[in-house]
Amino acid sequence: MATYVITGTSRGLGFEILRQTSSDPKNTVIGLVRDKAYTDKKISEELSDRKNIHIFQADITSYEDLKKAAEETAAITDGKVDYLIANAGYVTTFDSFDPISVLDKNDPKGLAADMHKLIDVNVIGNIHFYTAFVPLLLKGTVKKAICITSGMSDVEMVNSLAIDTGALYSISKAAMNLVTAKFHAEYKDQGVLFLGICPGMVDVGAFDYGALTPHQMEGLQRLMGKFMSYAPHFKGPATPEKAIGDVIKTWDNATLEKNGGDYISHLGSKQWI
Ligand SMILES: NC(=O)c1ccc[n+]([C@@H]2O[C@H](COP(=O)([O-])OP(=O)(O)OC[C@H]3O[C@@H](n4cnc5c(N)ncnc54)[C@H](OP(=O)(O)O)[C@@H]3O)[C@@H](O)[C@H]2O)c1
Repeated sequence: MATYVITGTSRGLGFEILRQTSSDPKNTVIGLVRDKAYTDKKISEELSDRKNIHIFQADITSYEDLKKAAEETAAITDGKVDYLIANAGYVTTFDSFDPISVLDKNDPKGLAADMHKLIDVNVIGNIHFYTAFVPLLLKGTVKKAICITSGMSDVEMVNSLAIDTGALYSISKAAMNLVTAKFHAEYKDQGVLFLGICPGMVDVGAFDYGALTPHQMEGLQRLMGKFMSYAPHFKGPATPEKAIGDVIKTWDNATLEKNGGDYISHLGSKQWI
């Protein structure tokens, strides 16, 4: 029996984390979303029998929203939470197909705007989320704060495969990895595990492949080719069900002593796919 607070449960991986964690009726699962009406409707259609799911409104870029959501959560959990799952993220496609200098040359203002949004959501939003909810986590039993990160932020992998696309997104995730380390430094003596986990590459319907231009398709195929040379078993993106099953196993096995402040893959290692 555990209590979870998960951000970004309206769709994608967040919805799958909500689905899997709430499959045990003894768990209490709180989802934070920007559009509560939309998510309530989706849950009533797809998970209607689950009485252990509670949805609260919070845009993670709003510290006020998060503080209010923490109060609403405390009111139904006796002030305690076992797991924080920082899943919500801005997954841009601005940088998906071209290297960083090409993006900058073609659209410097667009690059700056997208980078600012990535930092606002993927970095500052998660700092606000942890700050608002850590007091509840400190009163819980399990004390695990997990951020959904990306292997694209691993400098060693970027260098070894010469991955020149996804630059802005990767930079935001690398910054978040350091946020994880800083929260670890601050809270390890109070027994809280802060850890980033990458789910691998997962198909959440981000691309309408039929609508990609030949140039975009070429960029994507180049990246897939690099992933295949890195992991010959890689056949393409995993399903959310498989990836999140692996992520949950990884956070179940993670300990403060072994993994505190680190970022690892859904396989529990630095093997990203
Ligand atoms: N899919 C992958 O292959 C993959 C790989 C590595 C890491 N990740 C990470 O996994 C996480 C989930 O990604 P996904 O693939 O499921 O993407 P997704 O389908 O685009 O879902 C993103 C989620 O984040 C929410 N969100 C975005 N901005 C928000 C904000 N300001 N406040 C609150 N919620 C916000 C979205 O809510 P709305 O519905 O309101 O927009 C949505 O629920 C992200 O952190 C992503 O970086 C994904």
